[in-house]
Amino acid sequence: MNLHFCEIIEKRFACKAFNDKEINKDDLDFILNAGRLAPSTCGFEPWKFVVVSKRDNTSLSKICFNQENVATASHNIILLARTDLQAKDDYIKKQISRICPPDNEKKFNQVLNAYTYETNTLNDEQLYAYAKSDCYLALMQMALAAMSRGIDSCMIGGFEKDKVDSFLSLGYPFQTAVILSLGYRRDEPKYDKVRLNIDEVVIYY
Ligand SMILES: Cc1cc2nc3c(=O)[nH]c(=O)nc-3n(C[C@H](O)[C@H](O)[C@H](O)COP(=O)(O)O)c2cc1C
Repeated sequence: MNLHFCEIIEKRFACKAFNDKEINKDDLDFILNAGRLAPSTCGFEPWKFVVVSKRDNTSLSKICFNQENVATASHNIILLARTDLQAKDDYIKKQISRICPPDNEKKFNQVLNAYTYETNTLNDEQLYAYAKSDCYLALMQMALAAMSRGIDSCMIGGFEKDKVDSFLSLGYPFQTAVILSLGYRRDEPKYDKVRLNIDEVVIYY
């Protein structure tokens, strides 16, 4: 199944329970690659995507308030936010060196300082929030990629963060940002989309 973009955004919904069908490897790779290709602030790509298979659904669901979508998913993708996003950090130096060769030290430092102008002033909590907002872009891109192949999803922000961090044995610089449960719907959505009207959200300035 390859859906038109308008159908994809209309058909995607927050799926509350999945059936037993598993997502095949080709589709899973397609979804993960859509996340990899998502835009990010300054091109930092401040993320990693951890694929959790069915075997661990019960343990994961327990720390996601027993949500049924997490418990029944074919796969849960845990998006990690990384917080080593300052000029001092090797990861960012590596990211910048892709667009500005480090052999020209003066130019490299200029670009490095310009790109990290904002992150250099942030504390750990703020760096997490900064990276998390980029993770949401990857999240959306993966959800839409999934729907384009007829695969349903639910974005999961309802989890006990410290427990999910421990479940994955995370340490600096990674923290859990958000989860995407993926699979095939068990039931049709119970409601039509509930949204504000276009004139309630758009302002022509
Ligand atoms: C960041 C984020 C976190 C969310 N967390 C949950 C969640 O923990 N459980 C859940 O069932 N839905 C969750 N949702 C889904 C929203 O409730 C849902 O997208 C919204 O009500 C609109 O419905 P729709 O996606 O079906 O159009 C989350 C959505 C977002 C964007």
